[in-house]
Amino acid sequence: MNPGPDRALKNTSFLDAALGRPTGRPPAWIMRQAGRYLPEYRRVRALFPSFLDFCRSPEHVAEVTLQPVDIVGVDAAILFSDILVLLPPMGVGVEFQEKRGPVVDDPVREDARIRGLPSGNLNAELDYVFQGIRLSKRALGDRVPLIGFAGGPFTVASYMVEGGGSKELARLKALMFSRPDSFRMLMGKIASVTAAYLVEQVNQGVDAVTLMDSWAGFLAPEDYRAFVAPHSREVIAAVKRAHPRVPFIHYANGAPTLLGDFASLGADVVGLDWRMPLETAFAAHPRQVFQGNLDPCFLYSGPDAVAAKVKAMKSLVGARPHVYNLGHGILPDTPVESAQAFVAAVHGDL
Ligand code: CP3
Repeated sequence: MNPGPDRALKNTSFLDAALGRPTGRPPAWIMRQAGRYLPEYRRVRALFPSFLDFCRSPEHVAEVTLQPVDIVGVDAAILFSDILVLLPPMGVGVEFQEKRGPVVDDPVREDARIRGLPSGNLNAELDYVFQGIRLSKRALGDRVPLIGFAGGPFTVASYMVEGGGSKELARLKALMFSRPDSFRMLMGKIASVTAAYLVEQVNQGVDAVTLMDSWAGFLAPEDYRAFVAPHSREVIAAVKRAHPRVPFIHYANGAPTLLGDFASLGADVVGLDWRMPLETAFAAHPRQVFQGNLDPCFLYSGPDAVAAKVKAMKSLVGARPHVYNLGHGILPDTPVESAQAFVAAVHGDL
């Protein structure tokens, strides 16, 4: 059983900041830090025609999970996997196609299908994830903590219902507005499986968890409150009941009007994207720990500009505990030196 964040790690700056404790050196990690911008990642990725087969290989998962710790110097590793690995145990087939991204075999649209969705046997069907966690923890040793994650119920539902990525989420929102009971049933099922999945990730060794509800910003605030917040809150509460001292990060993209809602979900850390000025978030929620929020595209401006930008961020943050990160995932053609400069500047080494 994971004893929680006080285990004997050499670098606890991420866990400390996440729990609102002072840190010496401020912590940084990068969303999608194990990804295509790293040539070392692309080498391992090339061994597998299918992205999901890669995710299902615990030795390779552990290898790429550690790459950004070694190469970029981040203060936390994040398990290499994807939010959509939860779909097959819930009876929804998915594959990742080159160029198109995730594609669902048979999107979930009919009420009978929603009612019949299984809650899966996670220990059996996601055993490869849990093996990946154990191998990653062993390989990391006492260096930095390991973050686990799942998709927010709304974001996971979007892939199930839309059948893949979508510009408007029109089918998902049509379900929400025209058959609210069916929508709630779907969300409730995803939320309870997600809670069990995150609790088990902690049981298996992750030191913190993040719920990535990337597409929550598609909603009007009143609809987020009515249809999504209760389910996200349920996931967070379930994980907190089982593991009260394990930091919980909530992340959403493109949702500046929902800041207050996110701050009331029960998470320890609220992730921000670049549309929300740090000073606005800090003024509105003086005691909330935030994560973020550099525009991933800013990394195209090169190491010197990145170092100057991070210095400006640091002066806004001041003495508050803060988890430095980008505002969304790092893009595949980002120069590695810019990612390294981001972390070094957060550490005060540039
Ligand atoms: O952060 C990390 O380094 C851990 C790994 C991770 C991946 N996906 C690996 C991945 C994490 C945390 C995710 C989360 C994820 N996946 C989210 C939420 C966060 C966000 O970015 O908004 C979402 C919405 C997904 C769904 C997803 N996975 C899409 C839409 C795509 C295709 C787009 C793309 O970037 O290719 C993926 C594929 C994916 N997941 C890749 C990686 C490294 C790229 C696939 C490849 O290497 O071939």
